[in-house]
Amino acid sequence: MSEPADRYPVPAEWAAKAKVDAAGYDALYARSVAEPDAFWLEQAGRLDWIAAPTEAGDWSFEQADFRIRWFSDGTLNASVNCIDRHLTERGDQAAIVWEPDAPGEEPRRFTYRQLHAEVCRFANVLKAQGVAKGDRVTIYLPMIPEAAFALLACARIGAVHSVVFGGFSADALAGRIADCDSKLVVTADEGRRGGRRVPLKACVDEAAKSTPGLERVIVVKATGADVAMGERDVWYHDAAAQVDADCAPEPMNAEDPLFILYTSGSTGKPKGVLHTTGGYLLYASYTHDLVFDYRPGDMWWCAADIGWVTGHTYIVYGPLANGATTLMYEGLPNWPDAGRIWQVVDRHRVHTLFTAPTALRALMKEGDAPVRMTDRSSLQLLGTVGEPINPEAWRWYHEVVGEGRCPIVDTWWQTETGGALIAPLPGATALKPGSATTPLPGVRPQLLDENGTVLEGATSGNLVITHSWPGQMRTVYGDHDRFFQTYFTTYRGKYFTGDGCRRDEDGYYWITGRVDDVINVSGHRMGTAEVESALVLHPAVAEAAVVGMPHEVKGQGIYAYVTLNSGETASDELAATLKAWVRKEIGPIATPDAIQFAPGLPKTRSGKIMRRILRKIAEGDTGTLGDTSTLADPSVVDDLVAHRVG
Ligand code: WTA
Repeated sequence: MSEPADRYPVPAEWAAKAKVDAAGYDALYARSVAEPDAFWLEQAGRLDWIAAPTEAGDWSFEQADFRIRWFSDGTLNASVNCIDRHLTERGDQAAIVWEPDAPGEEPRRFTYRQLHAEVCRFANVLKAQGVAKGDRVTIYLPMIPEAAFALLACARIGAVHSVVFGGFSADALAGRIADCDSKLVVTADEGRRGGRRVPLKACVDEAAKSTPGLERVIVVKATGADVAMGERDVWYHDAAAQVDADCAPEPMNAEDPLFILYTSGSTGKPKGVLHTTGGYLLYASYTHDLVFDYRPGDMWWCAADIGWVTGHTYIVYGPLANGATTLMYEGLPNWPDAGRIWQVVDRHRVHTLFTAPTALRALMKEGDAPVRMTDRSSLQLLGTVGEPINPEAWRWYHEVVGEGRCPIVDTWWQTETGGALIAPLPGATALKPGSATTPLPGVRPQLLDENGTVLEGATSGNLVITHSWPGQMRTVYGDHDRFFQTYFTTYRGKYFTGDGCRRDEDGYYWITGRVDDVINVSGHRMGTAEVESALVLHPAVAEAAVVGMPHEVKGQGIYAYVTLNSGETASDELAATLKAWVRKEIGPIATPDAIQFAPGLPKTRSGKIMRRILRKIAEGDTGTLGDTSTLADPSVVDDLVAHRVG
């Protein structure tokens, strides 16, 4: 029987060589459902434990006995799993290969043995500055090898890292330092990206003005820029020269925190998503192995930034736990030209490339020539993450980039989930462009309607996960009640993802996007509430409502409706000023794409803004606004439609 045009069977070569084939997947999945504890304890054998766990999951999503614990009688150290245990077999193999921003510069390579020394030194520097087990360390670094060293150094001594993306503003950084009460920040003089300099140290100085609890700043010399060094600042290279290159790892309980990573939600300030040591690390290793079929010697490239969860799990923890060679790239996929990403693939003979749909769409716009000028014969497998991939970009990735040879693993997951939950396995799963396909063994998705009724078969609904998995977040740092309220109360006893989803007749999952007030801009999560709070801080603004709008490259863009204070006049200049304002308050990724000045917003009589209407206007879908009769003043809608921007 011939395959329908939208279905790509497993290539024969992959079916033959992959660790897990279709029958293997079915067997693993069935076992994970029938005997979850035995299944996960077996998987736990992937790690090196100081004391091996005898228990797997101990969890309940019900309020009365709400808890999530995995392997809780196990003891281990994450850095030992990512470094020390590989030293005998692959001490001289490259662990990290670093490709600099500028193409003319030499890459840097660190073998596992060198990584051991770098991480130990870094750990000793942290210790010398008074950092102890359980302390939070904020890491605000560019994509340089020291970023990976810093994460692993925290893990080695049991400190909890909180990485803040280098593109966030001083204000956003300050909020995150204060929220988890970090006394120490690791930063660099400057970052480099696409030929531009990012003044990281200056941002930390600015953030320090509003974070009195910050005692020490360790500064890595990255560009050699002249930066002001004050009393609280220490050069990393000076401190490193005074410590040993050996540091005994701290034995950690599986449930001891490994890191905090802030992410946007539908309400309030960003949440500190907390992951613990055993479950997270195991899940990172398990998914990196299964989904990417990793083999020793393969060059692995996850082209994300360490500031996001993708970088944590698939640049650092997953690949290093599996003894891989992980490529870290400082720059942008399309700088200095649209072929850079493929030149990097050739230069390092990359086997697997894992990137975001937004990058692919941006590159696709430049045409096929920059791709075709490169060889890419090393590529065997391609991956995507972060947002739904449109079938057109999928086919371009498959046909032009991978020359029809490489399966594409579209991985659906979240900061909260630690690693991929729904994704194909290259040797097991036939692909459909735009679908993340089927759940990994151990993952139990369900689709529900608004009332919580379970929907069966081919259907659409809200995506929940009914059973815990080891990589699940454990709490919102400092606010356990918020954790429960955010994820487990929409549907009692189930983890609500915030995503809408369709399931087709083959049981394939198609994520349709967020159903809450979170928008996905270039694969980065942005809470509409955060952008609104930034806008209303401006003295001219009385009220703001932010929604997503379709955007050709970014997936979603930011559309802001702004009501001005009386006496203020709407103008293009003011719109530009407000865009720059948000950029400064949060960071470039939060810059609104469109600002519409609105004399009034559509509100119900009880004062609730009807976002559904605002979304439709922003999308340009003004023909079907639905019932507006419940609005306090239905005429505001006509005005909004008439003055739509874009
Ligand atoms: C979206 C990134 C469709 C989704 C790892 C999710 C996706 C949010 C996919 C999490 C995918 C992520 N297909 N949508 N393959 N991957 N998403 O926390 O809406 O930055 O809820 O984690 O991105 O974003 P986060």
